[in-house]
Amino acid sequence: MAKLEIVCDGHPTLKKQAKSIRKMTDEMRLLADDMVETMLCSNGVGLAGNQVNRPVRIITVMHAQDDVRVYINPRILKFSKEVQYGDEGCLSFPLLYGTVCRADRVTVQAQTLDMKKVKLDAEGYLARIFQHEIDHLNGITFTERAEPDTFYTITRKEYEEDIEDGEAPEDTSSGDKEASQPADDSSQAG
Ligand code: NI
Repeated sequence: MAKLEIVCDGHPTLKKQAKSIRKMTDEMRLLADDMVETMLCSNGVGLAGNQVNRPVRIITVMHAQDDVRVYINPRILKFSKEVQYGDEGCLSFPLLYGTVCRADRVTVQAQTLDMKKVKLDAEGYLARIFQHEIDHLNGITFTERAEPDTFYTITRKEYEEDIEDGEAPEDTSSGDKEASQPADDSSQAG
């Protein structure tokens, strides 16, 4: 496995609509392995193909500290009317956070690495990760979703201290950053 380079704010691939994956190949399996490694090395809780400059419909999602899953062609079938507000960050926007309103629960349809169809319900923090990562596949980043006056940045030092403490930086996007499950609201880096 290898750690891949994560593309950041301003990179055109972040704006691309990712392509569906029709067939599982060795190349795609390798990409999945590398994305899992990249997400874990970066203290992320989610990662999308676009973020490693591969605009294909694949995401990695941390369900729990030792439970990372790969989803192919994920799609949200249903959004709850109830919403949640939480701070998000993103591995493609290092150190930047903002408050994003998301559906509290979603029903996701996807395929596993062996291309079997799966359907699952997610709520709270996990639902936020799915919404953040699937947005990436549609060329949308959390910066377009966040409430405009809620953006804040932390310093590299603060970020590293949070990691040392085993805390998620107060934000992260599902995207991508931290793995701990905040008890109160959600932060995610992805
Ligand atoms: Ni992200």
